[in-house]
Amino acid sequence: MAESMMGLKRSHRCTELGTANVGEHVTVMGWVQKSRNKGGIIFVDLRDRSGILQIIFEESDCGAESFSKAEKLRSEFVIAVTGKVEARSGGVNENLATGAIEVRASGLRILSESETPPFPIEENSKTKEELRLKYRFLDLRRPDLQRSMMFRSNIAILTRKFLAEEGFLEIETPTLIKSTPEGARDYLVPSRVHPGSFYALPQSPQLFKQLLMCSGYDRYFQLARCYRDEDLRADRQPEFTQIDMELSFVDVDDVIDVNERLLQRLFKELMDVEIPMPIPRMTWQEAMDRFGSDKPDLRFGMELKDVSSVVRDCEFAVFKNALDQGGSVRGINAKGQGGMARKKIDALVEFAKGFGAKGLAYLAVLEDGSYKSSFAKFMTEEQLHDLAAAMDGKPGDLLLFAADKNKVVWDVLGNLRLELARQQDLLKKDDFKFLWVTQFPLLEYSEEQGRFVAMHHPFTMPMEEDWGKIDEDPGSVRAKAYDIVLNGTELGGGSVRIHQADIQAKMFEVLGFTPEKANEQFGFLLEAFKFGVPPHAGLAYGLDRLAMLMVGADSIRDVIAFPKVKDASCLMTEAPTPVDEKQLQELGIEIAQEEEA
Ligand code: AMO
Ligand code: AMP
Repeated sequence: MAESMMGLKRSHRCTELGTANVGEHVTVMGWVQKSRNKGGIIFVDLRDRSGILQIIFEESDCGAESFSKAEKLRSEFVIAVTGKVEARSGGVNENLATGAIEVRASGLRILSESETPPFPIEENSKTKEELRLKYRFLDLRRPDLQRSMMFRSNIAILTRKFLAEEGFLEIETPTLIKSTPEGARDYLVPSRVHPGSFYALPQSPQLFKQLLMCSGYDRYFQLARCYRDEDLRADRQPEFTQIDMELSFVDVDDVIDVNERLLQRLFKELMDVEIPMPIPRMTWQEAMDRFGSDKPDLRFGMELKDVSSVVRDCEFAVFKNALDQGGSVRGINAKGQGGMARKKIDALVEFAKGFGAKGLAYLAVLEDGSYKSSFAKFMTEEQLHDLAAAMDGKPGDLLLFAADKNKVVWDVLGNLRLELARQQDLLKKDDFKFLWVTQFPLLEYSEEQGRFVAMHHPFTMPMEEDWGKIDEDPGSVRAKAYDIVLNGTELGGGSVRIHQADIQAKMFEVLGFTPEKANEQFGFLLEAFKFGVPPHAGLAYGLDRLAMLMVGADSIRDVIAFPKVKDASCLMTEAPTPVDEKQLQELGIEIAQEEEA
């Protein structure tokens, strides 16, 4: 029994009505959240994306036909109700935006019926995520998800508005592009017209936005879909959206300035949160030394301390070996955790091993000032005392140490620090701590590839004062690259770009590209660089990550309408799927049969 609207027009969304509307005749449309028949009087909670409104049906008001229809209403039926707004008869419901009113129905149309949904449409659903993602179109009806999607929309709209006011042009760049893998793995799209050839889906609009600068568009932005075939985590999706921008005739400070104002505006207007300006800056080196991470969470302390010089002369082989091999010994002080049970400490050791540690040494300062430690027997009382003092260890504190190559020590302690903060519930979602991390290394040595790779990308400008060291010590050259970090998440990243052909050519050489190979992959960019290039720089945010942090979601999936799961599949459409033999033939593709195990 699906009726049509018959010219009926919706006058309000549910929560657009309030006490100011009492006495008005209105028409509302939406889904039945629930319906209670109290015999002679039927209460219906009507839901639309704005929220919930109570409707009352009594036969004396709405007539026999509508009343008998109202008796049939069940959850998720779609209805249109006309009626009069009244002050709520049964007392105000403080939990509802519309809790002071109700609509006394004079007419009802059932626009669509519904089967019983596979799970209840409710806030903070307890239903397993797999089931919700299979029926995402129902899951998206839940009020919390609807609020998140509306919030995300507001971020996009306000970003556009702000950047337009700042003189940025919104320009689209292609999503079927040339494959230039340098970073994550590309998603490839086979060409029918050119059998054996492939497009790639863009990992970012990087090269095109630089070309737009070459073409004189001087301030560009785009809400760009990006695709990366990499392992998924809570803050990563195979396809995601960037707020991507590029500016000409600018340096680091100009990019930071406009972006600080963008963030300030978004947080103020959408959340009424003041971000203290300017956002603090920290070099990459300082971030690693103090927090063991290039995206430090500044909501709590527990900073790393380098105690290499303090333990240099001790007999503990673990510390000695690490130092002899050019590594370091560093520690963190878990304040007040000195009484931690052995079992819990062992769990921390296992946690550390998950990040490549060979072990985790600990020193608990007991209440009487004595020590309990995994390495006390290798140290004199004085050495223990000096070590505790260096760590500011007070009675009741637990000191944890990692000894290894710097990279491992940073990773282990940086993650341990976060784990301890989680255990102690120090990570408040409504505490927003921003940070610019600057002066990233230009290059990073890849053991896997046996060569240097670009830490950000190959178009990033080295710092002038370091460029002279590019041949003798490439690893020490810093870049004009910056990340914007929020509460331990990398929200965005960018850099000043190389605009000089000679520096770019040298950069490709250091990255192990022959001139031929560089030309084959990036020829169009190098060609453009011959015809007048403005100095330029840019940045891209992960819009999904920004939305996730702003709404306080635990996963990026909660702010994406139709997200993918860990194995990059879509549980609703079941993509990816095998395709017809005919489609493959047209593309000149044959599927290699997987060998039987
Ligand atoms: P970068 O690779 O750092 O820089 O990406 C910019 C931002 O995009 C977000 N992001 C992701 N979000 C969700 N899922 C993913 N798989 C994912 N990968 C990245 C992050 C990240 O900070 N072209 C450069 C920017 C520039 O130099 O202007 C770039 O893409 O929030
Ligand atoms: P072991 O000599 O292996 O029995 O280790 C003695 C103590 O040092 C144990 O508490 C180990 O967990 C710890 N340990 C081992 N390797 C390291 C390391 N690389 N860094 C810090 N502690 C370690």
